[in-house]
Amino acid sequence: MTQPTPFVERLAPAKINWFLEILRKRDDGFHDLTTVMQTIDWCDTLRFYPAPAGAISLTTNVEGLEVDDSNLVVRAAKSLREFVGKPELSARIELDKDIPWGGGLGGGSSDAAATLSALTEFWELSVPLPDLMVLASELGSDVSFFLSAPLAKCEGRGELVAPLEGASTYWLVMLWPGMAVSTPAIYQSGKIDLTGPRHNRYLIDTEYDSEDQRSTPFYLFNRLQAPCFECFDAVRKCFCTLTTLASGRPVLLSGSGSSMFVICQDEADGRAMRAQLESQFPPPARVRLCRTLDRATTTTWRSQ
Ligand code: C5P
Repeated sequence: MTQPTPFVERLAPAKINWFLEILRKRDDGFHDLTTVMQTIDWCDTLRFYPAPAGAISLTTNVEGLEVDDSNLVVRAAKSLREFVGKPELSARIELDKDIPWGGGLGGGSSDAAATLSALTEFWELSVPLPDLMVLASELGSDVSFFLSAPLAKCEGRGELVAPLEGASTYWLVMLWPGMAVSTPAIYQSGKIDLTGPRHNRYLIDTEYDSEDQRSTPFYLFNRLQAPCFECFDAVRKCFCTLTTLASGRPVLLSGSGSSMFVICQDEADGRAMRAQLESQFPPPARVRLCRTLDRATTTTWRSQ
């Protein structure tokens, strides 16, 4: 009888930003920021299989997605292999993408972080977390966060991660408005307000509005929202429509956009909101009812 092929499977969750302030532009072209991010249950799936010695290959369900060294998954696998100095290590990687890209949801960064963590297990390496964090930060500003999820404050260009306690589950309706936006285009547009007072208040106690029984978890703010709207008028229009439909529920852009979210009171409220948005935003837009992840959910996933 043939043995089943050993493989490792990982879910790579998307994130939202509850708070994002840009502090300054740096000499290296990046921006110093303060952000609070939390993962949500909208995921890509990665599977890692044995492959001939030295081979690292990637296949994906998305037509046209680069699967060469420009893909963060391949770069993550190769950087880990280089770090441990074992060129014979190999993997055939399958990536099922569900998270929209160019949506400010960190899908590519999460895939890269999941690859670092899964291959550490698959290749039976013992790489301390601080070393993985360094590899992650070299891959992209958001990658380190996903090694510390579900909830963290991130500073520097995003790679300095301080995990936060108290990750709760909130019901969100996510809207990807059917168009990708380029993060570098927004950062380099010159449209980020860097002169006004900075909001460095990243976390406040729960604000509770007794009138409508709705609680807002954080100080909701995104400095990239205005420049995104200036660069991409279609995203601004979607946001205006969404704000009207949300009728008082909190609404915010995630990261540099184009995705945005509405915070709902509970599952029933979320389902009703989703139905409304689905009729207003037909495909290629994507509307999805999601929950933010807490520590228990994340631990269950990691041990799968
Ligand atoms: O690090 P990452 O590859 O995600 O960054 C993509 C681009 O976004 C960078 O090349 C830079 O133009 C911009 N960026 C920035 N400041 C940050 C993060 C990203 O200017 N903190």
